[in-house]
Amino acid sequence: MQADLERVLFDEPAILRRLDEIAAQISKDYRDKELTVIAVLNGSLMFMADLLRRIPLPLKLDCLSVASYHGKAQTSGELIFKFATANPSCGGQIAPPDVKDRHVLILDDILDSGHTLAAIREKLETAQPRSIRICVLLSKKKQRAREVDADYLGFEIEDEFVVGYGLDYDERYRNLPYIGVLRRDLIK
Ligand code: IMP
Ligand code: MG
Repeated sequence: MQADLERVLFDEPAILRRLDEIAAQISKDYRDKELTVIAVLNGSLMFMADLLRRIPLPLKLDCLSVASYHGKAQTSGELIFKFATANPSCGGQIAPPDVKDRHVLILDDILDSGHTLAAIREKLETAQPRSIRICVLLSKKKQRAREVDADYLGFEIEDEFVVGYGLDYDERYRNLPYIGVLRRDLIK
């Protein structure tokens, strides 16, 4: 898989060092609060697992996944939501987690056009949480289609297609332990 990369951007020690810093900041900011973490799958799997083990606070965890109708290297505005946990207040149906009056922290792998996180934030806001913040591992330096700012950010990167550490291209490369730029000739 490494041969498919143009270059490595962040190796595992660099990622984990940065997670130590973000986790410390989050732990400080939420020290007297009850946090509900909502992780966006599948991209944030590794990030979620490594980050949350560094946050020694009582918290609730829920996951959601989004699917978009568009291409493999891009998202469009149209998203379908799937929540992982059955919500008792909805008769056990798969439904948005009960975040009313909770402090919500959304975790995602990467902020690109902003469509995904803007849509997720809007969806969760309808459930009247006490607060919503966004934490992403990566953010691309670019003009976004939707205005979204990360409250916690791992690394800012150029507008290039990256894979590894959860991030995929056509569902591949998620298991790479580091993050790298995918060779352009491999992107259809
Ligand atoms: P956005 O909606 O355009 O901000 O894109 C967010 C989603 O697109 C992310 O959660 C990723 O799944 C995917 N994505 C965007 N850029 C990249 C990338 O460089 N590598 C892998 N996935 C990406
Ligand atoms: Mg993806």
